[in-house]
Amino acid sequence: KISYYNGQFKNDDEITVDYNDRAFYFGDGVYEVVRVYNNEFFTLDEHMDRLIRSASEIGIEDLDRSKMVEIVTQLNKQNNISDGSIYIQVSRGIGKRNHAYPLDTKPVVLAYMNETARPTDQMEEGISAITAEDYRWLKCHVKSLNLLANVMEKERAVRAGAHETILNRQGIVTEGSSTNVFIVKDGVLITHPADNMILNGITRLEVLKVAELRNIAYEEKTFTVKELMEAEEVFITSTTQEVTPVIEVDGEMIGKGLKGKVTNALQEGFNERIH
Ligand code: PDD
Repeated sequence: KISYYNGQFKNDDEITVDYNDRAFYFGDGVYEVVRVYNNEFFTLDEHMDRLIRSASEIGIEDLDRSKMVEIVTQLNKQNNISDGSIYIQVSRGIGKRNHAYPLDTKPVVLAYMNETARPTDQMEEGISAITAEDYRWLKCHVKSLNLLANVMEKERAVRAGAHETILNRQGIVTEGSSTNVFIVKDGVLITHPADNMILNGITRLEVLKVAELRNIAYEEKTFTVKELMEAEEVFITSTTQEVTPVIEVDGEMIGKGLKGKVTNALQEGFNERIH
């Protein structure tokens, strides 16, 4: 497999990373995960836009978008991945450990591809989730490499035999540890507004487009953990998990404990967009 780090394309087993890369010391950087379906990137433009935006939010202003597109296009040509994803990371750069940014440092890009099948079983059968407090920082709209709270809370789900942790701030559901969360209440699709409390998922946006096209009523507004527990349907979305029904939260069944009608319609609409 061919991957890319700091200006060079190399075989995976030949890549070594610089220990002064600020990604290690501080998680000082941003990233994206883009899906590949049938050898082609899905919503690459949207992911690139978000990458540039995230970088800019943390003061990395000199990212060359066309160069980034060139890197991922090269990798896709060389790796021949049919169904999978590409991970792209941009760190602030390389420099001796110092909180303040080093002078004249240049962004360092890491990118590699993975072959991953679509999660077809879980998209049919659904998954269980737990809830937990969202104690992350207040710039969750930035796709930062700093994922400590996310990994700790995801781990809590895994230890509880569940699949995802749905986070809340003072009872308001924000998002999952690596997914966005939707509920269906009185037939209306509801998801947290795209503000600084959540990452505005590209899959989230695709789902809202599908809702628009299929005349499914939706609202971008906050909802509580109580509304989550009492929802007719719950599902999570992400690049890798697509549209996955949540059939149980904190050990309690959601709706009938099966994939719901609205979720199913949105999955169908999403499928049409990727083919
Ligand atoms: N995670 N919220 C968080 C906190 C996320 O980390 C992600 C994605 C999403 C969904 O975003 P999108 O639909 O653009 O993938 C929401 C990626 C896949 C990851 O960290 O692997």
